[in-house]
Amino acid sequence: MDLDTIRAMDAADPLRDFRDRFELPDGVVYLDGNSLGALPKVTAARMADVVNREWGQDLIRSWNSNHWIEAPRRLGGKIARLIGAKDHEVVAADSTSINVFKALSAAVQLRPGRSIILSETGNFPTDAYMMQGLAHLSGGRIEQKLLPADQIPAALNDQVSVLLLTQTHYKTGRLHDMAALTRAAHAAGALVIWDLSHSAGALPVDLNGCQADFAIGCGYKYLNGGPGAPAFLFCAERHHGDVFPALSGWFGHAAPFAFDDSYEPGAGIDRFQCGTPGILGMAALECGLDLMLEAEMAAIRLKSQALGDLFIALCEDRLTGFALASPRDAAQRGSQVSIRHDEGYAIMQALIARGVIGDFRAPDILRFGFTPLYTRYEDVWLAIEALAEIMKTGEWREARFATRAAVT
Ligand SMILES: Cc1ncc(COP(=O)(O)O)c(C=O)c1O
Repeated sequence: MDLDTIRAMDAADPLRDFRDRFELPDGVVYLDGNSLGALPKVTAARMADVVNREWGQDLIRSWNSNHWIEAPRRLGGKIARLIGAKDHEVVAADSTSINVFKALSAAVQLRPGRSIILSETGNFPTDAYMMQGLAHLSGGRIEQKLLPADQIPAALNDQVSVLLLTQTHYKTGRLHDMAALTRAAHAAGALVIWDLSHSAGALPVDLNGCQADFAIGCGYKYLNGGPGAPAFLFCAERHHGDVFPALSGWFGHAAPFAFDDSYEPGAGIDRFQCGTPGILGMAALECGLDLMLEAEMAAIRLKSQALGDLFIALCEDRLTGFALASPRDAAQRGSQVSIRHDEGYAIMQALIARGVIGDFRAPDILRFGFTPLYTRYEDVWLAIEALAEIMKTGEWREARFATRAAVT
């Protein structure tokens, strides 16, 4: 495939105009939107307005007059459209880690008498860590079990209260079959929590079509909400009334401004709020969501798969010494391609020094994320060109690329 053909693909891309709506530095090929989404151009002006007018001038009146109080529900409703949920089943709140705990503790409560909380070895660590914390807190009543993905279906039995899985694997991009695994868990009487951190905004998700129970996910990846953006939590409507939240903060109370001494869960999804929402973060996330909702999810998925296929084809054509860590079949893959190399860290640093930004996940994974709203086919070409050059010159061997930074 040559550059002219690739440029023609960009020219024919139905999503091509979205790229201009993002702040992307000159000379940078950004393939890390799966870790931190790029900045929508509209966000800076919106943030200035929230800070200067809503906070600066309107002050505390903004909770009512500028609808701050509704932000978690309003944004939840927008996220719901991206993940196959009803708008009153999703709330934007807290971090993904905190929402993992809320969903886990709720699920455990809905399945009394069952002792096992189950997940996959190699899942994103925070999911496993939060499970460990809940098990520890239970004083031995709850036991965490981690198994390789292929052993999960056979481990679903009448002792499992909840199965927690990440739909798109953070390292490899491998997709789980959400419908099949949810069905298998339900057949065993267990509930399911889906971590959609690498799925929301990257591919079509149909939580209600799969009868999912809970889901959680990040706002700062494909939703372009900014560093540390609010996360989201989905709870199927059928469970709302049965959950007494473990994190029973006043924002989840039925009447927060009644200031009762005793906690009474709010109606529906509101009970999954906890404390005062961070309005600056909500404002930035809403900009990312509004932009994403202008695009067709089917077009996003189609382009994401084509970008990944192109990356794999060029990689195999131009490079040696790397092993594909992601599924070759685009239907089995999220919106990233990962390749392995023993010297992956130094190679990624050399690539970043050339302006091609991906990231590294220990011990040997180089990760490249594709964000169809702003990634061009030409970016994939440029990334592989730079990688081929780095391998040819051996510049990755320079000492400066060996020093590990705090964030990889
Ligand atoms: C699958 C998954 N879950 C959770 C998180 C992060 O959670 P938090 O936003 O609480 O740091 C990540 C971050 O990359 C992730 O990939």
